[in-house]
Amino acid sequence: MKKVVIITSSYRENSNSNVLAKQFQKGAESTGNTVEIISLKENRIAPCLGCNFCQIHGECTLKDKINEILDKIIDCDVLVFASPTYYYSISGSLKNFIDRTYAKFRKIKNKDFYYIGSCSDTSKDGIDRAIDTVKGFLDCLDNVKLKGVVYGTGLTDVGDAKYSPVFKKAFEIGKNI
Ligand SMILES: Cc1cc2nc3c(=O)[nH]c(=O)nc-3n(C[C@H](O)[C@H](O)[C@H](O)COP(=O)(O)O)c2cc1C
Repeated sequence: MKKVVIITSSYRENSNSNVLAKQFQKGAESTGNTVEIISLKENRIAPCLGCNFCQIHGECTLKDKINEILDKIIDCDVLVFASPTYYYSISGSLKNFIDRTYAKFRKIKNKDFYYIGSCSDTSKDGIDRAIDTVKGFLDCLDNVKLKGVVYGTGLTDVGDAKYSPVFKKAFEIGKNI
């Protein structure tokens, strides 16, 4: 049994990437894993100040939920990011969040990593280019490997994910972590 943390980053109500994240959760839970979804919309993580306070004191000086969320990530076996593609990259909220891991990124290690993407284009390019940004983060972590991607391509409007073949695929990938 694995502990899974999914970070969702779309601010859109019933968003495609959030729907796929829930499918991934159901799949992972169906094989006995425990899953927590952490919504960046609900937690409103502020941008990194770049003050380096964390590099001296080990914790961020900003008083939002970042320290609590980072402790959950450090503790999990499987880390998942879910994001819409915005201009061939990840959402700003997810990039903000990644930057805020700076306080404890050295402790985020030995995990499998999955990415759930949604984009309008029918090609995978918009998601692969977004993943390139995430890879910069993964490259700074010790033994955290990209194990799989949920390609939510061809999704534009709210509700599209539910009627796409990727809806079932997200469940299957979650089931097989
Ligand atoms: C600011 C913005 C930029 C976008 N840029 C792209 C893009 O570069 N490529 C693409 O295929 N879709 C792009 N889209 C469309 C979204 O990726 C698509 O609607 C996606 O399904 C949204 O996911 P969500 O419902 O999880 O928020 C963009 C949408 C917005 C709002």
